[in-house]
Amino acid sequence: MARFPVTALRSVDLGTPDLDRSVKFYCDVWGLTLVTRAAGMVYLRATGSNHHVVALYPSERPELGAVTFRVATARDMESIAAKAVAEGARLVRGPAPNDAPDGGMMMALRAPEGGLLRFVHGDVSHAPEPSQGDRPERLAHVNLNSTDVDRSAAFYERALGFRLTDRSKAMAFVRCNSDHHAVVIADAKVNGLNHVAFLMPSLEAVMRGSGRMIDAGFPIAWGVGRHGPGDNVFSYFIDPSGTVIEYTAEVLQVDDSYVVRGPDQWVWPPGRTDQWGIAPPKADHVKSAQLSVRYAAP
Ligand SMILES: [Fe+2]
Repeated sequence: MARFPVTALRSVDLGTPDLDRSVKFYCDVWGLTLVTRAAGMVYLRATGSNHHVVALYPSERPELGAVTFRVATARDMESIAAKAVAEGARLVRGPAPNDAPDGGMMMALRAPEGGLLRFVHGDVSHAPEPSQGDRPERLAHVNLNSTDVDRSAAFYERALGFRLTDRSKAMAFVRCNSDHHAVVIADAKVNGLNHVAFLMPSLEAVMRGSGRMIDAGFPIAWGVGRHGPGDNVFSYFIDPSGTVIEYTAEVLQVDDSYVVRGPDQWVWPPGRTDQWGIAPPKADHVKSAQLSVRYAAP
């Protein structure tokens, strides 16, 4: 398989107006576990080996503080920094030793659309927790709104070494490993966060997790269904701060032989938005929530 300088989507930093409520939600309902608190950040892990998958911090409005990727080598970090600057990003920090609890080396860029992208290498990992059945293992993807999808996708390809896996009318799906996509870029009138997807161990876990959310007063915002590009099962929710989050499973695994399909091929039959034909039309308040979370100001 092609060599990718970025090997994984690791974590997101999310700002929330009610930190205590968000921490309680992600630990007691969503299925994450508190790792540590440091410098105003609350680090939450999933059952997999990543040090954390979400870092929460207080902010006036919900916001996306950063998306963090793991890179293959320290040298890749330097070449990504150079290529990203050539493609219109701004180097914010590093590469330098990371003084946050996840350790290792860190480099941060401000992407052309305004989002902060962090890159880590040699970061701390945990022994994976024994399977907990219906809790997230890791992040599956971030979906980012962009006012120029093709330009954003080209940045991921040229600067970060991602590959385009599929392109629907509204979205570009890019990958950095065998997962069909780690980042989705969605056509929008604003730049920011559309949603964050968490990988569940199975379809059964998506359903059981969805039931746990409903019990806790968080109805399914969109789904359950099975997506077209990526073939993954989905169930969307809105977290207490208004950020859209997704349980997903069964993400298509691809290799270099995968043939990119375009907008003319990714077309739903009338009335459908998922493969099974069971996901109802997305409600307006969900569409609004998917446009409401912006990038943290520099
Ligand atoms: Fe998604």
